[in-house]
Amino acid sequence: MSTLATTGAATSAPIANGPCPIRRVLGIESSCDETAASVVDDGTTIISSVVSSQIDLHARYGGVVPELASRAHVELLTPVLADALEQAGSDHTGRGIDGIAVTHGPGLIGSLLVGVAEAKALSMAWGVPMVGVNHLEAHLFASLLEQPELGWPLVVLLVSGGHTLLIEVTAPGEYRIMGGTIDDAAGEAFDKVARFIGLGYPGGPAIDAISGQGDAKAFAFPRSMPGDGYDFSFSGLKTSVVNKVRKEPEASTADVAASFQEAVVDVLVTRARAAAAAVGARAICLAGGVAANSLLRARIEQACADDGIGAFLPSRALCTDNAAMVAAAGHWRLNHGDRSPLTLAADPNLRLVSTV
Ligand code: KG4
Ligand code: ZN
Repeated sequence: MSTLATTGAATSAPIANGPCPIRRVLGIESSCDETAASVVDDGTTIISSVVSSQIDLHARYGGVVPELASRAHVELLTPVLADALEQAGSDHTGRGIDGIAVTHGPGLIGSLLVGVAEAKALSMAWGVPMVGVNHLEAHLFASLLEQPELGWPLVVLLVSGGHTLLIEVTAPGEYRIMGGTIDDAAGEAFDKVARFIGLGYPGGPAIDAISGQGDAKAFAFPRSMPGDGYDFSFSGLKTSVVNKVRKEPEASTADVAASFQEAVVDVLVTRARAAAAAVGARAICLAGGVAANSLLRARIEQACADDGIGAFLPSRALCTDNAAMVAAAGHWRLNHGDRSPLTLAADPNLRLVSTV
């Protein structure tokens, strides 16, 4: 059995569990372009979840502009927090809040710092413990919010803008990384291809939407599956789409989008299915922003039904970045004795690693 460890300086400093379990956790998320705060009870019941997206701010630049993102977090975090606390029957005094969880990596350094600084200030002012949470671990906990009784072992396909991972989960907090992308993340490929074919930012939802009007068999884009294991590669596919569109500028955008999406989903489902079979998983679970993709959800559901295992697809709001998943992961960590000191650092390159 393996346990998750996070890399990076000044992370959690474990201490013994106190006599009272920590029930109500405030989660703060600001790793990329969503400013979010949420109050979660007992690690599973969402009392409030407020997400303020900066999509409109970045759309005109075709992607997230880090400096603009951090400034927007500074402006948005206070009202977002006030909303989340008020909806949970609390206020600026932190009444009823037992602990604070904050994403401290991976992500954009300036954006992460805004959330981390706020968490430290509130922890000190309210006199409650704080824990830094790995954003990737938070995505894994999103599933437990809707289905606390998920059976083990599970294989989680974590597909976001920055990561593509296949992870065996044997219990909450016990992970084994089975594979990952060797180049672009799946969401990154969606965003880059969308930008190239003129669909703007964020690319994933745009490709998802237009693909419904296209022919997924119009172009036979490559399915790259490096090695015999569970790794992924999407940069060749992206280049292939670019070359095709340059050669055939009159090609239907919907057909290109649908054929590209088909290739990404094909590879993700093939490898996730093989990983689940290899470990005897009881279910495949999706996590991360790309898990909101309609075709991926339908294909995973079908593959799991064919293989006689469960499929767990968190609601779309819990797939994309939110703070409820951070609070859920923080609840688990805090109740396992993790505490972060006030010297907690934001780590843009924080990794999710397994120890066997
Ligand atoms: O998890 P997330 O919200 O942020 C990160 O941690 O990266 O994931 C964002 C990514 C973006 O690349 C976005 O294009 C992609 O998720 N995405 C989608 C869909 N919705 C969001 N990709 C494909 N289809 C979607 N419906
Ligand atoms: Zn994310």
